Amino acid sequence: MKTSTAEQIDLSLPSATVIGSQVWHYREVGSTNDVCKDLASAGAPEGCCVVADAQTGGRGRLGRPWFSPPGQGLYLSCLLRPALPPDSLPLCTLLAGGATARALAEATGAAVRLKWPNDLIVGEKKLGGILTELLTPGGEPPAVIIGIGINVTIPLETFPPELQTTSTSLLAATGRPFERPALLKAILLELDSAYAAFQQEGPGAVLEAWRVYGATLGERVRAETTDGTVEGEAVGLTDQGHLVVRTGEGLEVPVITGDVVHLRGGGQPA
Ligand code: BTN
Repeated sequence: MKTSTAEQIDLSLPSATVIGSQVWHYREVGSTNDVCKDLASAGAPEGCCVVADAQTGGRGRLGRPWFSPPGQGLYLSCLLRPALPPDSLPLCTLLAGGATARALAEATGAAVRLKWPNDLIVGEKKLGGILTELLTPGGEPPAVIIGIGINVTIPLETFPPELQTTSTSLLAATGRPFERPALLKAILLELDSAYAAFQQEGPGAVLEAWRVYGATLGERVRAETTDGTVEGEAVGLTDQGHLVVRTGEGLEVPVITGDVVHLRGGGQPA
């Protein structure tokens, strides 16, 4: 893994901004989440962020690789130290998704929506994703790394073949190229205000963004969890960020984590 030298960048964020108080830019890293974890272990302050032009080992949920070509995507990780019990950590993913969806929708006009728990989508195609990782078991408060990946100017035909029918980019969705620094600034500002609202008002502030940008509630879904498959209607989100699925038998099952497929007619993935 090649890691280039870091330089601190100034995005002219308001001085009270916590998320983005330090932003470290790299040309190339393995994974921005790993670099951010190293900074967290070395005592970096809450809000410290890492951004890279390219990742050679970018990863998504469930150990999947994250396609990270140079200069065409936003690869960002932010360090939080939230006072939350471990079972509420899914809320951090929802918070980051809500803030990123709002920032991108407002900055680009793209119809960005959220698929529970961590996908940013346009239509049913994946535009980006959130990877939340916990640094230290037992750390007080825990260090949480929020990784955000957005496909910005990636032409559809350059995605790996297995991603070409399921992925999109802001360029493909809108026909317009966007500058990554402006998107980075918009996302950091939204993240900061969503985090402040969460600390003052609790989970309601996070769930509100999902009422606006969420595409999963009201859908028939199939959730693959470690305990098996749950199928039914997505009817709500709990204060911990878990998805509530009402099965055909009328049972309301909270899904803590897992892969969710939106189903339309006949039980086929949309
Ligand atoms: C997913 O949809 O599965 C989550 C994708 C998260 C990708 C981002 S890119 C920046 C950060 N560094 C990583 O290695 N992954 C996240």
